[in-house]
Amino acid sequence: MSYYIGADLGTSSLKLILCSAKGETVKSVTRDYPVSYPKNGWSEQAPEDWWSAFCDGVRELAEGTEDVRGISVAGQMHGLVILDKNGDVIRPAILWNDGRTFRETEYLNVEIGKQKLSSYTANVAFAGFTAPKILWVKDNEPENFARIEKIMLPKDYINYRLTGVHATDFSDAAGTLLLDVKNKCWSKEMLEVCGVTEAQMPKLFESYERIGTVQPDIAKELGLAENVHVIAGAADNAAAAIGTGTVGEGKCNISLGTSGTVVISSDKFGVDDNNSLHAFCHADGGYYLMACMLSAASCNKWFCEQILNTEDFAAEQADISHDMLGNNGVYFLPYLMGERCPVNDTNASGVFIGLRPDSTRADMLQAVLEGVAFAIRDNVEIAKSLGISIKSSTVCGGGARSALWLKIISSVLNIELRVPVAEEGPALGAARLAMTGCGEYARVGECATAEIKTIVKPDKMLAERYEKKYKKFKEIYPNTKELFKRMMEDDDD
Ligand code: XUL
Repeated sequence: MSYYIGADLGTSSLKLILCSAKGETVKSVTRDYPVSYPKNGWSEQAPEDWWSAFCDGVRELAEGTEDVRGISVAGQMHGLVILDKNGDVIRPAILWNDGRTFRETEYLNVEIGKQKLSSYTANVAFAGFTAPKILWVKDNEPENFARIEKIMLPKDYINYRLTGVHATDFSDAAGTLLLDVKNKCWSKEMLEVCGVTEAQMPKLFESYERIGTVQPDIAKELGLAENVHVIAGAADNAAAAIGTGTVGEGKCNISLGTSGTVVISSDKFGVDDNNSLHAFCHADGGYYLMACMLSAASCNKWFCEQILNTEDFAAEQADISHDMLGNNGVYFLPYLMGERCPVNDTNASGVFIGLRPDSTRADMLQAVLEGVAFAIRDNVEIAKSLGISIKSSTVCGGGARSALWLKIISSVLNIELRVPVAEEGPALGAARLAMTGCGEYARVGECATAEIKTIVKPDKMLAERYEKKYKKFKEIYPNTKELFKRMMEDDDD
């Protein structure tokens, strides 16, 4: 039987799965790598770390399996990877949650203007997107900018090392702010604004199209047969949507990973007048709308590991009783890396409010879990205001393993949450793209389904409590916004 490898190049780790041609996951491995935060609000990774993790993981995954036929990678979006004429990485990758580009973002939104950006790309600028990062390198590291031969996104670097082909797919390209999303081609205007040429950009593919074959020396090194096909792959959120069956008109998936995203799939291209949601290309050839929060499950990880000094998240949550939920007066604003949607503010930071002498660690952890749920609600409210009705959503990512957190989110959003049996959203989506690209399915839609293991329904009483608590939560940001700005200016002095 043939096997397929699906990879999820995340921010904290790489997850790899081996899928049989029947679509069953038979083996999975994970490799961690570090993120560096060289300055306040910056975040970088070494592409070489991704590659070592990938090689090491594939060797373990493929051991004893001779019939790997195809590989596909889903990756963290928007990261800027630049290579010189020898194919060497010029500087560490600048990641999706890096906020250094606030000046370039403002230049794009104000000087070039949101209206033009939207007509070129169907989106406006956010600090995490790739175009402002290119401008940042141009302004701040002209010697590096002059050496750029190839621009690519994180997962494309893996594909480049595997095949030698400089390629990307439409779902990842959409997050660069350089793609004309509607017409699926690089925007000549945006390339000009950023001072780059089409020759420096990757060739564009649909996510399920084959870009090449694993090069013979690499195949040998990874323990793979010759002629393993490499399929373009997708942005992690698009791949997660494929893994959770979020394709077609109006389906929703919430991802609780390092970031938190709300993805709404669509068959047709569409963009709202205010560009409140990102309008991106989907991995099945369609489109989707998305809102992205920069810190979601990462807030829980940060609070447990850094502050409480524990990795046992479940034991820590066991001290939160049902009675305390929505009832304890402690609030947390989850803007640890600034925030993208809906506030688009790189100055924002995390805040606890409402602490008293009797507040416990459980109160604070509960506030963290609820704060993330409220921030997701902010984005669901935006979708609602655009006339999109979300009655139920699948949910994936590490955060979806917590029954308590799902109960909180479901009641805060007042919608049903559906947890798929397969936990590996993006990696599974990538494996399905590999399978489609190798002809196991005629189209992505055929395999983009999800068997549901748990349905979490909102608790009526909790939903009422959260309605009240959410109203107060909503007041925290407007009341701290100016202070964040002044605090950031002080940091710059
Ligand atoms: C989406 C986004 C994040 C990353 C995380 O716009 O920036 O979800 O893709 O890997």
